Amino acid sequence: MTEPFDAVEVIAAKRDGHPLGTPEIRWLIDAFTRGVVADEQMSAWAMAVLLNGMDRREIRDLTLAMIDSGERMSFAGLGKRTVDKHSTGGVGDKITLPLAPLVASFGAAVPQLSGRGLGHTGGTLDKLESIPGWRADLGTAALRAQLADVGAAICAAGADLAPADKRLYALRDTTGTVEAIPLIASSIMSKKIAEGTAALVLDVKFGSGAFLPQRERAEELARTMVELGGDAGVATVALLTDMSVPLGLTAGNAIEVQESVEVLAGGGPADVRELTIALAVEMLALAGVPDADAGAALDDGRAMDSWRRMIRAQGGDPDAPLPRARESHDLLADRDGVLAEQDARAVGVAAWRLGAGRARQGDPVQHAAGVRLHAKPGEPVRAGQPLATLLTDEADRIPRALEALEGAMVVAPPGTTVPPRELIAARIA
Ligand code: URA
Repeated sequence: MTEPFDAVEVIAAKRDGHPLGTPEIRWLIDAFTRGVVADEQMSAWAMAVLLNGMDRREIRDLTLAMIDSGERMSFAGLGKRTVDKHSTGGVGDKITLPLAPLVASFGAAVPQLSGRGLGHTGGTLDKLESIPGWRADLGTAALRAQLADVGAAICAAGADLAPADKRLYALRDTTGTVEAIPLIASSIMSKKIAEGTAALVLDVKFGSGAFLPQRERAEELARTMVELGGDAGVATVALLTDMSVPLGLTAGNAIEVQESVEVLAGGGPADVRELTIALAVEMLALAGVPDADAGAALDDGRAMDSWRRMIRAQGGDPDAPLPRARESHDLLADRDGVLAEQDARAVGVAAWRLGAGRARQGDPVQHAAGVRLHAKPGEPVRAGQPLATLLTDEADRIPRALEALEGAMVVAPPGTTVPPRELIAARIA
């Protein structure tokens, strides 16, 4: 087959700062999927995009081309409105766990196709896999049946969903090209649009624990994704949220499940509850349920019922004890005072080094590993009290985790006022 374009010319055009035409972009992604454009060529092109950017039309073309590299799912005929949520990832970000069943308890369908963790941010599937018996893999037919019956499903994305993105992401990961906004936006949105959801709420994070720490860059990413969703006919809203401090008091797998269950029982840390409710209200508004009282559904057991049905439908036992770590180590406060800082990234790295996350795709994770925090910033602490408990199955992981936490928890003199941080910084629609 004669190729209509030449990969070197397409790379050079982007290198020299020229916008690429729609046919060139469609060809590039298709030829990469067919193996005609080599990995090193695609990596060079990704670097050119990172350095020179893409305009809105180019980003839309790239997203559509990646969707077309695989199957496009449809939930038409389900009899329920579909709405999904995507978070750009953070430390202690377990929100999907209470959120999906909460939204489903109002009659909407939540097809939550999720991933596994890489690096210092945790993966939703890794967390849920700490529940005995729970399975992440659902075929399309089982997913549909579960959405019709229970309303919520959290499962692994099939290999056919935007396969070009999977290959491109793996290259970006090893070539320093993850942080390009056009590439991130098209990567996330190609998967979400291909998944067939009618509406989408994005939780775009900034702060040390986010993969785009600068607020302005996170905001640009959010705007780009909201526009891409609108262009594709998927009603999309984004919340811009602060990830400079971990969400809740746990970062790990089983311990995050436990905290999610507390939120589903009407309790749990205030920030996890606040964000769960805010995202649920946005999702329900897009699904045609305006002014939903999401807090009431957490308090009166409706969301918990929905969680139990969702876990059972995927083989899990919601009553089974969760794995417990064999080893633990307390990090103690060395003085009386007020907890002034608790750096999200450091806590995420510590949890990862304890075994809660993986360094390479396919590595196993320890379900019981992680960091349990004992205070939120602004709370008083006493000398000798634990600020954090490190949990792992392998004691020799503890020193490196402690190193990650050096300087991350700051205790200020008694009486210091720590300004409250605004968890939800902006709404972009
Ligand atoms: N998550 C994705 O799915 N893709 C990216 O490029 C970054 C985060």
